[in-house]
Amino acid sequence: MYSARTRWSHLINKGADNTNNARYFNQNISFGDEVLCDFSTAKPCFRITNNMKNFALVGAAGYVAPRHMRAIKDTENNLIAAYDPFDSVGVIDSHFPEAAFFTEFERFDRHLEKLKRNGQPIDYVSVCSPNYLHDAHIRFGLRSGANVICEKPIVLNPWNIDALEEIENETGRRVYNILQLRLHPSIIALKEKVASGPADKIYDFDLTYLTSRGNWYYTSWKGDVHKSGGIATNIGVHFYDMLQWVFGAVKKNVVHLHTHDRAAGYLELERARVRWFLSINYDVIPEAVKATGARTYRSITLDGEEIEFSGGFFDLHTKSYQKVLDGEGFRIGEARNAIEMVHAIRTAEPIGLQGDYHPLAKLPLSKHPFEL
Ligand SMILES: NC(=O)c1ccc[n+]([C@@H]2O[C@H](COP(=O)([O-])OP(=O)(O)OC[C@H]3O[C@@H](n4cnc5c(N)ncnc54)[C@H](O)[C@@H]3O)[C@@H](O)[C@H]2O)c1
Repeated sequence: MYSARTRWSHLINKGADNTNNARYFNQNISFGDEVLCDFSTAKPCFRITNNMKNFALVGAAGYVAPRHMRAIKDTENNLIAAYDPFDSVGVIDSHFPEAAFFTEFERFDRHLEKLKRNGQPIDYVSVCSPNYLHDAHIRFGLRSGANVICEKPIVLNPWNIDALEEIENETGRRVYNILQLRLHPSIIALKEKVASGPADKIYDFDLTYLTSRGNWYYTSWKGDVHKSGGIATNIGVHFYDMLQWVFGAVKKNVVHLHTHDRAAGYLELERARVRWFLSINYDVIPEAVKATGARTYRSITLDGEEIEFSGGFFDLHTKSYQKVLDGEGFRIGEARNAIEMVHAIRTAEPIGLQGDYHPLAKLPLSKHPFEL
């Protein structure tokens, strides 16, 4: 069942496509007794008569893109066009079968330009491409006259943020980042607890994130430090953002180890001492967790006390989109602290097992799967 607005958006989408769906023109569209649109006169008025936003999506064939499609759908907006050099995008049918799809950037660009000239500009470009392409795709979105919603990490290096903020100013459009852990109920509760606790209290916080990636990871862009930023940037950026959001600015940032499949370090923040460990190696996951069939394990402890953090991840992209649409999205500048942290971790020389390190850092290291 469509809601009134979703049904409305479907009809508008069809009506707006005057090549394939001309039959919808010259008809009144009603919902119950209410006439929603008279297409014989209303085409230029779509954006005035309702709040529905037009989206374009870059990187539509990838793993995370369906979460963006669902978020666009759930917030009752419309995906008009999508682009990915790889054409395995049948998933679009589950959300926006009418969307135009391109495998060539130039045709995608031309299509968006044509839409703009025909009075149907793109309001938002969503960027789900590999990390090292984000800044180029954000620039493209801004220069097309759209706001941009970009996946994490928004860029690989802090100075990329400066350049994009300049283009924000030039174009008057905005760049928003998906920082979904800030919308997770357990993390919001943690931030409130720290904010309402004694101002001089320094907490001890342990962060453990163990997930599993097969050998494909090392063939893909994700296993290439120049394209993904490496494991701390690609897997860890959400956590560093969350840590500085909850506990304040970084005073000390030590890296104990950083290999192809794991990273460990110690952070001193204004309100916490943090030992952190991240891994993408299945072997590192505790046997008891593996026995349940799980391939991921997350644990965060505050002064030795476990904080429930196993679920609650399902609809965070939709929540992120809703925030942006409500004018409360996380602007690009809000990602700066985390991008500075991951850049520092990426470029640091690991010191080995010295000082206050995460207990799992002691586990034996593994060989890169492609190493002979
Ligand atoms: N927020 C989260 O929880 C979350 C989860 C996973 C990934 N991500 C982020 O989302 C982004 C995509 O990750 P993914 O896991 O979907 O990766 P993926 O490799 O599955 O998808 C990337 C897509 O980008 C496409 N692509 C490659 N080059 C392109 C180009 N020049 N122009 C346009 N598209 C291009 C690829 O064909 C692919 O379909 C990354 O930035 C990643 O860090 C975020």
